[in-house]
Amino acid sequence: DWQNKFVSQDMVRASNCGYGHAHSKIILMGEHAVVYDYPAIAIPFTSVQVRVKVQANQIGRDFIQSSIYTGPLTTVPKQMENIQALVNLTRDSFQFDRKALLIKIDSDIPAGRGMGSSAAVSVALVRAICDYFNYSISDYQLHLLVNQAEAIAHESTSGLDTLITASDKPVIYRKSQKPFNFPLDLNAYLVLADSGMEGRTQQAVSRVLQLKLQQKEFVAELMESIGNFVEQAYTAIQDKNPAELGRLMTYNHYYLNQLGVSNERLDRIINASWMAGALGAKLTGGGMGGCVITLAENLNQAKVIAKAMKQAGAHKTWTLNLNKFA
Ligand code: MEV
Repeated sequence: DWQNKFVSQDMVRASNCGYGHAHSKIILMGEHAVVYDYPAIAIPFTSVQVRVKVQANQIGRDFIQSSIYTGPLTTVPKQMENIQALVNLTRDSFQFDRKALLIKIDSDIPAGRGMGSSAAVSVALVRAICDYFNYSISDYQLHLLVNQAEAIAHESTSGLDTLITASDKPVIYRKSQKPFNFPLDLNAYLVLADSGMEGRTQQAVSRVLQLKLQQKEFVAELMESIGNFVEQAYTAIQDKNPAELGRLMTYNHYYLNQLGVSNERLDRIINASWMAGALGAKLTGGGMGGCVITLAENLNQAKVIAKAMKQAGAHKTWTLNLNKFA
């Protein structure tokens, strides 16, 4: 598990270190509209994780080592700044000691793919700092703190990524309401495919905002429809009806496309999955690159679809059994 990975790296799990982890996420339906207080459904994707280890730094100032930032070097300082800001915020919020920390971030979550990398790093980081100072942080405190940091780093976020990267239960979420966890027990498989193309969530969120400012009514109608699809999808899940869920996912994608956050590459991968017999498919997360999800009837079909998606340009695929959240 995540702690053992550090154990093998460092030989022993030291008692004078703090540890934290978080995982990736999949937005099943409702991204973007969720920023404007429409509902969305998200599920944890626990097999891809980020681990953070915190210990005292003898050098006298905080130092961050990260395995994540493989992107252009110019984007790194900004990310580091955000991480440092969250370290400071965590210290100040709980009045922790000011001593310098050495922070190691080890992530399996590809960055800039709509897989929740940034939220997961923040969640794992706060958990590790609190563990280091022997402070037992509640999920609610964690959610508030990370969202506060995200709100400083980016302009607008729904808070859904923070919630789901910290939780192991599927959720139907609305910004202004208490999150609602539900059991997901569907006889179907989800294939997640990384398009291999970077998609910056904040850029996609800004694009939707621009469109909203230019075409207020059009965007309001799209979001209203997405919200309705999400509610119908929740009913389809309760009715154990994968075919209906797939149909709604595809509609959701069509509306995301209208919002301007899909692109040729994502559409090509989605088309390939349809041709291979998928029940439905859509982009997931911010879009403009990043990942696609597809619903398959059974494991065999999931394999066929995964292969077709790779042939259409997907770099990597993961398959998830949807009856594991019962
Ligand atoms: C990103 O994973 C999901 C978006 O809806 C943004 C957000 O909810 O903050 C695009």
